[in-house]
Amino acid sequence: MNRRTALQWMLAGVAGIFGAVAAAITALPSLWYCRAALAAKEKTGPVMRRVASLADLPLNQPVEIPVIGQTHDAWEFLEKTLGRIWVTRLSDNPENPKETKIQVFSSICPHEGCIILKDPAKAGFYCPCHSAYFTADGAVISPETSKSPRAMDTLEYEIVRDGTAESGTWWLAVAWEKFEENIPEKISV
Ligand code: FES
Repeated sequence: MNRRTALQWMLAGVAGIFGAVAAAITALPSLWYCRAALAAKEKTGPVMRRVASLADLPLNQPVEIPVIGQTHDAWEFLEKTLGRIWVTRLSDNPENPKETKIQVFSSICPHEGCIILKDPAKAGFYCPCHSAYFTADGAVISPETSKSPRAMDTLEYEIVRDGTAESGTWWLAVAWEKFEENIPEKISV
């Protein structure tokens, strides 16, 4: 091999190495994204999210509250409204706020996903899309004719306090999740 051929081989080798490094750098974000997606998928169960301070929840009056959370869209993490819930505080327990009874419903209709509203005429709820009516406890009114295949979907909750300080604010934290539509069983999506 003469010097000229050896030099050409050397240059080709260096170009190959640079090409491989550039390809690896380009692929890194995709690998990171795949890893994040896999990690999210592997997470078990819905995340508890604080939605309101206990002091802001009136007794026996349903209030509609947005659930705010983080989602990621390709490279960015975004704060957005994940959904809405109907919350009713059912007991007042100043001695032991952690034991406060709360009723939490997803506002997504089990029929085809429209938003359930408070029934202005009665103590209950209704879905305007196909006129499904629910009691204040979330049960279907007239199940034989209602379009909703099941009661309003309840969500798990916890009462949590800021830090450990005695004076810390008590919060309602809710496990936001969605369920299959148009089937009688309540099954997480
Ligand atoms: S989507 Fe609610 S009744 Fe049809």
